[in-house]
This record gives sequence, C-alpha cells and structure tokens, in this order.
Amino acid sequence: MAATTKYPEPKEDDEVLLRLREDYGQAVLDLFGTGQDLKEVRPVLDVAGYTSNFLDNMRLPVHRWFRYSAGFSAEWVKWLVAERNNRELRVLDPFVGSGTTCLACDEMGVESHGIEAHPFVYRVASAKLNYTAEPERFLAKAENAFRVARSATAQTIRYPEIIQKCYSVETLSSLDCFRQAIEAEQDSTPEALLLWMALVSSLRTVSEAGTAPWQYVLPGRRKTVPPSPEATLHRSVQMIAADIRFMARRAKPLAKLRMDDARKCATVLDGWATLVITSPPYANNYDYADATRLEMAFLGEIRGWGDLQETVRKHLVRACSQHVPPKSVNLDEILESPELAPIRDEITPVCRKLSSVRLDRAGKKTYNNMVACYFLDMAQTWNALRRVCAPQSEVCFVIGDSAPYGVYVPVIEWFGKLAQAAGFESWTFEKLRDRNNKWKNRKHRVPLCEGHLWVRG
Ligand SMILES: C[S@@+](CC[C@H](N)C(=O)[O-])C[C@H]1O[C@@H](n2cnc3c(N)ncnc32)[C@H](O)[C@@H]1O
Repeated sequence: MAATTKYPEPKEDDEVLLRLREDYGQAVLDLFGTGQDLKEVRPVLDVAGYTSNFLDNMRLPVHRWFRYSAGFSAEWVKWLVAERNNRELRVLDPFVGSGTTCLACDEMGVESHGIEAHPFVYRVASAKLNYTAEPERFLAKAENAFRVARSATAQTIRYPEIIQKCYSVETLSSLDCFRQAIEAEQDSTPEALLLWMALVSSLRTVSEAGTAPWQYVLPGRRKTVPPSPEATLHRSVQMIAADIRFMARRAKPLAKLRMDDARKCATVLDGWATLVITSPPYANNYDYADATRLEMAFLGEIRGWGDLQETVRKHLVRACSQHVPPKSVNLDEILESPELAPIRDEITPVCRKLSSVRLDRAGKKTYNNMVACYFLDMAQTWNALRRVCAPQSEVCFVIGDSAPYGVYVPVIEWFGKLAQAAGFESWTFEKLRDRNNKWKNRKHRVPLCEGHLWVRG
C-alpha cells in the first residue's frame, strides 16, 4: 500500500516509536527461533502510522492468527496512541472485529474497551486477547490433542454441503479428528481457547477450494496442493506459542472485550472513553456473516447460508442488502425515524432513487432499504458514542463513501452531521486514498474515497 503524507515520519529521538521498532525486531528474532517459515515472519519495521490495511497485521505476532480482511493496521493504532503520549487515554473500539485496537492498546500499555456483535468474530478476538496463556501448558494441551486425534474415528458425514465442497474426504477426515480432539480439550482455560484458535486459523490454509484473497469461499476454484491438516495445525500451534511468549514480555492485559451492540454500547460507562478508534462496516454490501461461513459451518454453528441471518446478521449494523430483503422493513417508516432528522432531506431522495433504479437491475438488490437502515443504525451508534465519550474526546472512524447502483451516498458528510446532532462539536476528514473497485460490475464510475473521519468535542 502506498504511504500517504498524512502523518510525519517518526523522529529518530522519539522514544516511543523507537521502542516499537525494537519490539518488532525482537519479535522477528523470537519467531525465527521457532523454525517458522521466513516468508511468514516479516514485521513492518517502519512504525509510521499511515496505513489502514489489515494485511500488514499478518506479519505481526498475535494479529496474524486470523486474517480478517475487514481490519485495519495495528501499527496505525499504536501511532495514534503514541502521538497522545502525555494525555489520559481510554480507548474504545465499538466495532472491534478481530481485536486489532485492543491488542495494539495492550502493547502500548493503554486501557481499552472493544465491542463486537458477530459471535464468531468476537470469539476470535477473545482468543487473541488470551495471549496471557501459559505457553508450556498450551503446548502440552496441543500435544495431547494431536495424540487423541491420531486414534479418533472421523465422522465426515455430519458436515454440511459447503464443507464437503471445500475439502477432500481425506482432508476432512483428518480435520474432523482434530476437531474432536480439540473439543475434548475444551475446559474454559485460555490454553483451550488458543487450541481452538489454532484449528480455526488452519481451516482456510488446508482447504482445496479457493478462499482468498477476500473472505468469501470460492468452492469452484481449486488449489493445486494445499498443505496437510496435521502439518498446518502443527505450524499454527508453534506460531501461537511463539507469539504468546513474545506478548507476555511486551504487553499488559488491560483490554476489556465485550459481546455488545455498538448502537447501544451498553457495556461502557458514561463518559468513559477519551479516544475512539474504529472502522465501522461500510455501506458497501460486504456481508460480515457470509465472511465467516466456512469456519462457522465447519464448527457446526450453522448448516448453511440460510442460518446466517438468525445466527449473525440480526446482531449487526445493516450494511448489506441480504440483511434487508424486500418487505423486511418499511422504508417510509425508517426514513421518518427521529434519528435521521439531521439528514432526512438528503437521504430521502437517495433512497427513493435507489427504489426505482433497482427495478431496472437484474439483481434487484434492496440498496434502498440498506442505505436507510444503515444510517439509522449509525445514527444510533453516534448517540451511544456521545454518551460513553468524555467531554473533549476524539473519535476517529476509518470510513469510505459509497455508490450502490451508481447512486452516490455521501457517507462522510452524513456521519459528520449525525455526530454533531448527537452532541459532538466538529468534524474533519483526511482522505487517504481514492477507490472505486468494490462494485465488481463497474457499471458506474462514481469516484469514491476512503480516509479518517475525525469527530471532536
Ligand atoms: C470493519 S470491521 C472492524 C475490523 C477491525 N478494525 C479489525 O481490525 O479486525 C467492522 C466490524 O463491526 C462488526 N459489527 C457490525 N455491526 C455491529 C454492531 N452493531 N455492534 C458491534 N459490532 C458490529 C462486524 O462484525 C465487524 O467485525
């Protein structure tokens, strides 16, 4: 990713940033010592906080346990925290996803509170924040699981269609034996959760079907020779053991993670946060529920796509059309919600236009409902944030605008207005990059951008 000039390069005498560099230098040494594949262990030694891409995290201890394409860079979070070195900091991330903000704050010795409503993603973040687990006990548990798995009898028949499509019978048999062994090891200890994490972080690597670069599964694409489940799981276990050793020396477990709804922030005390760092779902039809379909189907939490609504989507901000099918909401009523008053004159014509445009499109996607519900949900989020933020706090949203069916939705400006209506004083936007590649069909050429929305007061 191209660096922007939004943030100054760290000065050579800047102690905090130099310490971060040393941390990553040390992490590399530790990880090389465990026989990891060199290619996988390339930390970013330039700690200049200009980036917001989760891929950078795949080089960092603990962050790399689960590739969450929706995430942002941990180093950028550390940069923001380092910049506010002399201030009283309590950081909130109301859409914490896989836990990047909380982990980065622990590494910086700063209190944080993360909220996530997706049950599976919440569990991933919890596992990552269990880096305080005891490495030797974790390795002993893993060894036990490997032994039990070798003599287990596979039950592949119980898996739903998507799993049968993603794995050969042989791979699935092996994975199922490990699943049984790892489930038998679950005893509510941090080490058991890490074992679960090792299995989860191996699932995409060993699938014969395409799973990357984004998170939906592509059963139609086949990989040539995926690595074996046993070798992959073994590597995951070694990686996790190395990472928790590293974190034990470098981080303080200060973060609180809660399964909660950002629209309410019910688990956060009034006036608690002094800094909010977050990336909410974009209004771009990305389906966070579908993004973890492979893992949830393998673990028996869903049978198929149809279960995602009840199990996951209903807890989330409505940012995809699958969430709001025709007749599931009354558009007029949503647009009349008092929370939308600050933008009603602007959002109403946009939704009406989408109501007519969709009828001419093959997919007839309900972007009209999606846009209205998205802003209602986010207006509630801004109100909740006002309650939990201290006076004179700062809020940074990594966010982009949107153009479903080519109809421009000025997300940044509307968020600014909703934030001010909720009681914040001011907003500014720092553009980081131009974009217009999400809408695969490229039927429109509306210029879009992404950046940091800063709200203060
Ligand atoms: C852009 S991702 C955040 C990724 C995160 N920054 C990271 O590095 O992993 C947005 C997250 O918001 C979560 N989410 C959606 N609706 C939510 C809600 N109502 N309350 C809390 N979290 C929600 C999604 O499940 C998703 O994990």
